Amino acid sequence: MEYVEHRTVKSILKGIWTHTLSDIAMFTFPYQLTTAIHRLRGVKIGKHTHISRHVVLDDHNPELIEIGSGVYITYGVIIICHKRDMDYYYPGIQGKNWPFKTAKVVLKDNCHIGIGSIIMPGVTIGEGAIVGAGSLVTHDVPPYSVAVGSPAKVVKTYTADNN
Ligand SMILES: CC(C)(COP(=O)(O)OP(=O)(O)OC[C@H]1O[C@@H](n2cnc3c(N)ncnc32)[C@H](O)[C@@H]1OP(=O)(O)O)[C@@H](O)C(=O)NCCC(=O)NCCS
Repeated sequence: MEYVEHRTVKSILKGIWTHTLSDIAMFTFPYQLTTAIHRLRGVKIGKHTHISRHVVLDDHNPELIEIGSGVYITYGVIIICHKRDMDYYYPGIQGKNWPFKTAKVVLKDNCHIGIGSIIMPGVTIGEGAIVGAGSLVTHDVPPYSVAVGSPAKVVKTYTADNN
């Protein structure tokens, strides 16, 4: 985890750029256009990856998201790369004094993120893994496994024998 730097003019302008494009991507289709807009925001995205409408790819740190090829991110998914640092929390603290920490999110090739799921900072979704609809993913999901629930747990793993 890394700490978010203090606000500068550059970071404020970057925020306006990434937030505005994020709002536009919310409502655009086909998916090729949505994906192109997220690339412009700084998200790293491979080939033939499908990003639906109403997907949020961290408004503050889109460059911390790496998405492979052939990935499906379905409607209403939220991927976040920042959260408040609980080490600095104390009763009465104001939000402006409470630092964020950030961490990358990586979606490997051919994984599938089910509708309405939330992926938390620092998580890697393995190649070909499936995240069930409505899941809250707080830990890495191994390749070719199915993870569901809140917090998401692996309920199935596929091997070559499953073909
Ligand atoms: C996770 C998923 C891949 C599992 O598919 P499946 O193997 O056909 O699952 P089944 O319907 O046979 O259900 C198997 C078990 O998992 C549970 N389950 C299925 N999906 C679940 C989910 N999203 N969250 C929690 N539990 C789930 C079922 O209740 C069932 O439990 P049981 O054995 O105790 O009865 C699928 O249910 C899913 O969520 N897919 C994503 C759908 C989606 O996002 N579609 C939108 C765009 S494509």
